[in-house]
Amino acid sequence: MTVRIGVVGTGAIGRDHTRRINQVLTGGRVTALSDVNPDSARSVKADVAPEAEIFATGEQLIESDAVDAVMVTSWGATHEAYVLAAIAAGKPCFCEKPLATTAEGARRIVDAETARDKRLVQVGFMRRYDAGYRLLKQAVDRDIGPVLMVHAAHRNPTVPPHYTTPMAINDTLIHEIDVLRWLLDDDYVSAQVVFPRRTFHAPGDLKDPQVVLLETAKGVRIDVEVFVNCRYGYDIQCQVVGEEGIASLPEPMSIVVRKDARLQNQILTDWKDRFIDSYDVELQDFLNAAAQGTASGPTSWDGYVAAISSDACVAAQEAPGAIVPIALPARPALYD
Ligand SMILES: NC(=O)c1ccc[n+]([C@@H]2O[C@H](COP(=O)([O-])OP(=O)(O)OC[C@H]3O[C@@H](n4cnc5c(N)ncnc54)[C@H](O)[C@@H]3O)[C@@H](O)[C@H]2O)c1
Repeated sequence: MTVRIGVVGTGAIGRDHTRRINQVLTGGRVTALSDVNPDSARSVKADVAPEAEIFATGEQLIESDAVDAVMVTSWGATHEAYVLAAIAAGKPCFCEKPLATTAEGARRIVDAETARDKRLVQVGFMRRYDAGYRLLKQAVDRDIGPVLMVHAAHRNPTVPPHYTTPMAINDTLIHEIDVLRWLLDDDYVSAQVVFPRRTFHAPGDLKDPQVVLLETAKGVRIDVEVFVNCRYGYDIQCQVVGEEGIASLPEPMSIVVRKDARLQNQILTDWKDRFIDSYDVELQDFLNAAAQGTASGPTSWDGYVAAISSDACVAAQEAPGAIVPIALPARPALYD
């Protein structure tokens, strides 16, 4: 069966996911496109989805009989309404992060999905599909004994001038928030943010770097350095300390050069390149589940918990040094 996909939001990632579905992956075809900027949809049609029909609104696309499953890749603030419409239509839906821009919005999606008692939503937390994180999870599950601590870092070379201090949580740390929960099979119980000396390179009044300290229900202590003007590269580090050993996220593959009395490895600079392969694996998983009329991978619940946890981290930013508790409601059985 070929799953007919409708894409809402044909900007950077909507275009790239459409290319993936039509040119790289199997089992799906993009048959419908919609964007508030129709020129964007027309350009994606011309370049990578020649047979797609262009719809005036996302809602019309979702309701169309020519669409079996929906991909929501519009701006974050518009995700909730489209995901709710897809659930109402009973169609599997891949939603780029964030699932919603508020925890209440994500909760509405959880409630709509649980009311149907069927998984329909996959959230675009692609790091869970990265080969390096998957190897790290194997080591955490099998080799290093109970986990005691995690030391992680999320470093960008620079950020645009509009990047703000809360974006360090909502746009940057959000990936660690999800992937570390998955890696440890655990939930957060508190967050604290401390600010080291500010880098001269931070634009405006951005506080950079920051150190986010998370505690989990099992008592694991996590420190994540978020440093988005580090200059030297896009660098994701994760070291898990267990009772019996230490496991670290592998570095991306790179040629080792011996030259001028130096041993050199290249460091990536563009975030788009760092997890590029994981997007293919993530969307193939979506297509496979959508062919069965359901969804797989990161759930609405994961999107909701990420929203609650990131709200707590933003509250912790606003009260530097304070420990902000994170309380989660009971998890519906659909997500066990
Ligand atoms: N998982 C990841 O690594 C990753 C990477 C990039 C982007 N994203 C997420 O994907 C989403 C899109 O990001 P992007 O970089 O492609 O942004 P973008 O600005 O390039 O594209 C967004 C598109 O959505 C369209 N749009 C806005 N409101 C709309 C609406 N109401 N209905 C239909 N279309 C609408 C815009 O016209 C634009 O074409 C964001 O939520 C972002 O956080 C995730």
